Amino acid sequence: MGKVYVFDHPLIQHKLTFIRKKETGTKEFREMTNEIAGLMAYEITRHLPLRDVEVETPVATAQCKTISGKKLGIIPILRAGLGMVDGILELIPAVKVGHIGLYRDPETLMPVEYYVKLPKDVSEREMIVVDPMLATGGSAIEAVNVLKRNGARNIKLMCLVAAPEGVDKMKEAHPDVDIYLAAMDERLNEKGYIVPGLGDAGDRLFGTK
Ligand code: URA
Repeated sequence: MGKVYVFDHPLIQHKLTFIRKKETGTKEFREMTNEIAGLMAYEITRHLPLRDVEVETPVATAQCKTISGKKLGIIPILRAGLGMVDGILELIPAVKVGHIGLYRDPETLMPVEYYVKLPKDVSEREMIVVDPMLATGGSAIEAVNVLKRNGARNIKLMCLVAAPEGVDKMKEAHPDVDIYLAAMDERLNEKGYIVPGLGDAGDRLFGTK
């Protein structure tokens, strides 16, 4: 069964508090979302394997470490996932970025793909799906379906805030996918919003309604 990790780093928690506040404006919301995403990327990459290298400093030969060729990819789910990309790229500038766009069919209520563009070697990469909110789980489950259909074998999901309902659905649908969060909230309300959550992440990121 997939594991769920909630990052309790004080900087992540402090910034999350800031973006939860309803009076936080678009500019600050966007900046802090990216900062949290960067901090979470720092935590999520702790396991990356290192190899020994020798470099010449201006003074002497130094025995050093370098990341040993582990390939990463991040996949923002459109559109709110875009709000996490720059923060991750600041830390891991060479990471490949794919995109998955999904909408909910008004009749079946099922997520439908309208845009998929992935790195060509997804089967060799550790793919991190990013979306600020894990609410019902529908989009994240479908995004992972898309990745698996395209050959991905090593997938993680990184969200800022989750509802237990979405986490349970995700674990059931994709037990091989670990979930990384900044917070696990109380529940979903009748409109599908996470409570207490932070509202509509896409609207708050892009200043729409
Ligand atoms: N999507 C959001 O942006 N916010 C929620 O609370 C739930 C889904």
